[in-house]
This record gives sequence, structure tokens and C-alpha cells, in this order.
Amino acid sequence: MSTVTVCALSDIAPGASKRVMVGPTPVVVVRIDDSVYALHDKCSHADVALSDGEVDYDLKTIECIRHGSRFEIETGRPDTLPATQPVRVFTARVVDGQVVIDDAEQATKDAR
Ligand code: FES
Repeated sequence: MSTVTVCALSDIAPGASKRVMVGPTPVVVVRIDDSVYALHDKCSHADVALSDGEVDYDLKTIECIRHGSRFEIETGRPDTLPATQPVRVFTARVVDGQVVIDDAEQATKDAR
């Protein structure tokens, strides 16, 4: 397993998201309180960055700006149409104030 530090926790306001790159793969990191979640930054319905969408702090979802599908940030599953396929999620955590993605190697391979 490879890990990569992608940004400081303080770079992301609670309830906001940030696009980072893990190798060639775009990843959106979402912060809820002091927890972080990471998903492939590409809607499963079309090639649109989820990081451009709005985070729902209470529902723990991020909404695609193109057609409005909402994705659960913990599982990557869409809970509204038109998207029907999940987006890949990665294991993210905070270490000494830095956001770390644990399965960076897998992110690079799988989520292009
Ligand atoms: S492109 Fe994201 S819901 Fe259509």
C-alpha cells in the first residue's frame, strides 16, 4: 500500500471540498468536521468534476453540477438520477494536520 500526502486539513473548510491529483488521477477530498473523504473527481455519468459541485454537510453528499446527481461521500454511490454507477472512493485520513490518501497506488491505476 502506498500513501501520499495531498494537502493540509486547513486547506479545506469544514463542509467544503478540494481537488487534488494523485499521480494522473483527479481526486476530490471532502471535509466533514475533522474527517476527510476522498473520491474519484469524475462523475460516473459524464466527464464532469465533482469538486465543482456542492457538498451537503448533513447528508454527506456531493452534487454533480451538470445534471444534479448526488453521491454519498462515504461510499461513492449515487442517491439521485441520472447517475446510476458509483464513483470510486479512496481511504483518506488526517495525520499531523495533513490529508493522506492510503491507497494512492490503486488510485493511480484504477481511477483514470
Ligand atoms: S454529468 Fe454528473 S449527473 Fe450528469
